[in-house]
Amino acid sequence: MANILDKFKEELSVAKDYSKDKKIRVGIIGTGWIAEAHVASYKKCPDVEIVACADLVPGKAEKFCVDNGLDPAKIRFYPSHKEMLDAGDLDCVSVCTYNMTHAECTIYALNKGVNVLLEKPMCVTLDEAVAICRAEKASGKILSIGFQPRFDPNMKMVKKIVESGELGEIYYIQTGGGRRRGIPAPFGTSFIEKETAGIGALGDIGCYSLDMVLNAIGYPKPLTVTGYKSDFFGKSKKHSNIPQYADIFGVDDFAAAFVRLEGGIILDFRIAWAMHLDTPGDTIILGKEGGLRIPSTECWNGSIGGPMTIYHDVAGKQVETIIPEIKSDTDNFYLKIRSFLDASMNGGEPPVPSSQILYNQAIIDGIARSSELGREITLDIPEI
Ligand SMILES: NC(=O)c1ccc[n+]([C@@H]2O[C@H](COP(=O)([O-])OP(=O)(O)OC[C@H]3O[C@@H](n4cnc5c(N)ncnc54)[C@H](O)[C@@H]3O)[C@@H](O)[C@H]2O)c1
Repeated sequence: MANILDKFKEELSVAKDYSKDKKIRVGIIGTGWIAEAHVASYKKCPDVEIVACADLVPGKAEKFCVDNGLDPAKIRFYPSHKEMLDAGDLDCVSVCTYNMTHAECTIYALNKGVNVLLEKPMCVTLDEAVAICRAEKASGKILSIGFQPRFDPNMKMVKKIVESGELGEIYYIQTGGGRRRGIPAPFGTSFIEKETAGIGALGDIGCYSLDMVLNAIGYPKPLTVTGYKSDFFGKSKKHSNIPQYADIFGVDDFAAAFVRLEGGIILDFRIAWAMHLDTPGDTIILGKEGGLRIPSTECWNGSIGGPMTIYHDVAGKQVETIIPEIKSDTDNFYLKIRSFLDASMNGGEPPVPSSQILYNQAIIDGIARSSELGREITLDIPEI
């Protein structure tokens, strides 16, 4: 059994020496909750200088800097992404705004020749995703999408297992996850109002579980979607975990879909911010030679819920190989920031390329549209 496990060993990473002389000039667009994590990681980079912050809410960016240990005297403040980017003098920006302004901020930055780290989900609609990809192509700049679970050793293991061939040709995947009560309203209502979030659980945590499996199998193109979404919990004063916001809840809290992918692969998906259940099930990947079970998490902490199991036949016997959970102190958020900076300054592939996440967004958009139409739809994803 040891030789099977050896196939999946993590290679050692080599620490780099980053110059402290030439600083990368970084701007933060949107100084809310997640921007704090961006700043914490940028502060770990000796070659980075945060020089500008923008937020639509007057005074918010200034307070954010003070609260996060940045010297406001060294930072320029702007009332929106436009003024910040018009002022120039930036190498990179983090787009940390709510979903509905992801596309406009990202496209504006790329058009100004600035590299962009865009928070997940990529945006709200497929049309926006296409426009982002086209702006990126025209700019020649780096765009990376903020999926920090990509850097988790267990997530990498999922991909390694698939790529090792141990499962054979993949034909069916069930993925998703959910919480019994976990509609997010951390510092306000930007996740749950239509005008700011655009999409709910479907985009917020759905994008992660889609990325876990699609990345593992090489992001085949999605072809058709039958989707469903609902909002029973968010709108319920009785069952919502944030009943005080029931009247303004404007997005989905549950979604499910049946997706056909290129290569004859079926994707069965379900995601929930809230439901009368603890989990809608583990992620499973079925191949012609083996099956992989990935225990679900509380959803979504960016890793797996416990040891994974490969079900396969060895010498005619049906056996299970346990893939132990890798306990690691890897700072996935830092790696997302660091790898974006490295690609921006040295060139090469973005760590989480838009060409992949375009398909993730196409599925999300397809689920929303199919649900509204009440029928299966064919995804029409244009060439970039
Ligand atoms: N990667 C992760 O683990 C993770 C975790 C939480 C949130 N997120 C994502 O980060 C994004 C932001 O979430 P949040 O919780 O920080 O939201 P938030 O509402 O706390 O902050 C967003 C901020 O962006 C500002 N803003 C919006 N449009 C702007 C514009 N055009 N110019 C300047 N400022 C603008 C808003 O005023 C607000 O202050 C969401 O898309 C969310 O999905 C990612």
